[in-house]
Amino acid sequence: MPRAMRPPLPAELAVVIPCYNEAANVAPLVAALDSALVGIAWEAVFVDDDSPDGTAAEARRLAAADPRIRAIRRVGRRGLASACIEGMLATSAPFIAVIDGDLQHDEAALPAMLAAVRAGADIAIGSRHVEGGAVGEGLSAIRARVSGLGGWAARLLLPVPVSDPMSGFFLLRREVIEAAAPRLTGRGFKILLDILLSSRRVPKVAEIPYVFRARTAGESKLDALVLLDFAGLLLDKWFGGLLPLRFIGFALVGAVGVLVHLAVLSMAVRTLDFAAAQWVATLVAMTANFWLNNSLTYRSVRLRGRALWRGLVLFYLVCGLGAVANVGISSMLLQEGRAGWPLAGAAGALLTGVWNYAVSSTLVWRA
Ligand code: GDD
Ligand code: MN
Repeated sequence: MPRAMRPPLPAELAVVIPCYNEAANVAPLVAALDSALVGIAWEAVFVDDDSPDGTAAEARRLAAADPRIRAIRRVGRRGLASACIEGMLATSAPFIAVIDGDLQHDEAALPAMLAAVRAGADIAIGSRHVEGGAVGEGLSAIRARVSGLGGWAARLLLPVPVSDPMSGFFLLRREVIEAAAPRLTGRGFKILLDILLSSRRVPKVAEIPYVFRARTAGESKLDALVLLDFAGLLLDKWFGGLLPLRFIGFALVGAVGVLVHLAVLSMAVRTLDFAAAQWVATLVAMTANFWLNNSLTYRSVRLRGRALWRGLVLFYLVCGLGAVANVGISSMLLQEGRAGWPLAGAAGALLTGVWNYAVSSTLVWRA
């Protein structure tokens, strides 16, 4: 009986494949899964963020002849981690794997990963850093360095030893992701790390070696902003999710703003009187903060075009009011003798920070 006529079996393993502009890799990946997963009832869930190269259409073309292939096309959203979460939550299979859509991960490791989870592990991780695994040709020297550094930072936070926490190649029981889902940040690239840091109890981890392959078609989507996002994820988990991630970003940008302010001030006082120099420094620092917040903190709701100018003016007003409140509150505390100048100053600055953040989030960026 031809494949398309076979009654579809309920899948026991769902393979979730996040992809963006990977049209040329879809058919080769399906063929690779087909030969690696002999004897396992599997389904493939492609999660595409409306790639301009027609990745989703390519998956649907194959799905027309093969009921094991499914495609989720997300419109108006981008993000590797959130795509993985959505794919994992869209299947009823008892076991779920996540694998890159660019053939860099070795699908031949999947049966061993499945066996490890069947044997009792909560999560089996495809690792490049255990005996038999390697980074191979997959990463440039500099990326390997950055990845190593990120892995080191991540291991400080992890409840279990994991040799390759930066891996995006893993397999788990469905209950594991169902339980962790409400606590996932869904940000950035590092979905595995997010899951490991979000499970209530210490997860049982198995590591299966694989060799990271070089990409042959398409290109990597990792950039400097993705790395910053990763730092944000670690900070969020470090603070136990108590502080909103955006607030941490806003505060970090604020700290950079203080440095900008001091640098400009130190130059401007050479030619201007102090008050004028302060004005110049304040304006430059506010503009720098606006730009940084717009491209980092509020990246997903970034303002462009006319909205950008409107936002900038609003941001000046919000921060200006914040500054007036800062001076007012700290002077009041000082005069009433409730605090010495350091505490009064800090209280004023903290309140101003919270005010700036709250109003920026609702009025300037509507996050
Ligand atoms: N849906 C969706 N949305 N998929 C995305 C997005 C997105 O915004 N960004 C990237 N992807 C897909 C890519 O199409 C690819 O299939 C996979 O996610 C990995 O993206 P790459 O751009 O190829 O990442 P990489 O090779 O630099 O990073 C890989 O190596 C890291 C370890 O060094 C990934 O596997 C990471 O998960 C892994 O940690
Ligand atoms: Mn890749």
